[in-house]
Amino acid sequence: MPSPSQEIHVLSVRPAEAGDYDGIKQLAEYFWQETEMFCFDRTYDVLALPALIAFRDQVLAGCLSYSIEGSELVIVMLNVLPEHQRSGLGGKLISWVVDLAKAKNLSRVIVATSNDDLPAIYFYQRRGFRLSEVAADAIARHHGPDASGGFAGIPVRDEVRLTLELGPS
Ligand SMILES: CC(C)(COP(=O)(O)OP(=O)(O)OC[C@H]1O[C@@H](n2cnc3c(N)ncnc32)[C@H](O)[C@@H]1OP(=O)(O)O)[C@@H](O)C(=O)NCCC(=O)NCCS
Repeated sequence: MPSPSQEIHVLSVRPAEAGDYDGIKQLAEYFWQETEMFCFDRTYDVLALPALIAFRDQVLAGCLSYSIEGSELVIVMLNVLPEHQRSGLGGKLISWVVDLAKAKNLSRVIVATSNDDLPAIYFYQRRGFRLSEVAADAIARHHGPDASGGFAGIPVRDEVRLTLELGPS
């Protein structure tokens, strides 16, 4: 039995359906002010990508958009709304997409974040991803100078790439 101070939340993840894309658009615009994501030297529109969506107590709380490129699954966007963060939903989205990649016999899952985003760099490594490359100045070149900085005011410049190798299961 949970103690009275513990709250129990129902977390769930499922593949996005056509009717979910308004919610994905809102999440993309809330976090990134657009639906186009630049990573791995190309631009993806998350409205044209498959996605997983996450609910906390049946409320849309986050999503993960991905693209399968040859033997790799690219995580293009991962967001959980601030009020739902740190309850396990981001980890659940990662587990689901990793299982999906394994079911398709892919070789690896890759993701990119920005040099300032220390919580994301922590989050992915905690889930088995390894730092694999830094594309120096890739974000600065694409988005232009960063006046206000990102996490903790750190200038946003470089794309930090992480890889989860999927060995034989
Ligand atoms: C990164 C993100 C998806 C994680 O989602 P989440 O639902 O909070 O994930 P979880 O609850 O499964 O796990 C969060 C973990 O990160 C840690 N964490 C998250 N934010 C943190 C912060 N600001 N400071 C310290 N730790 C933090 C939590 O303690 C937890 O740690 P654990 O691995 O020891 O369990 C979410 O924070 C987010 O949407 N951030 C903004 C967008 C973003 O940065 N996306 C990724 C860019 S590629």
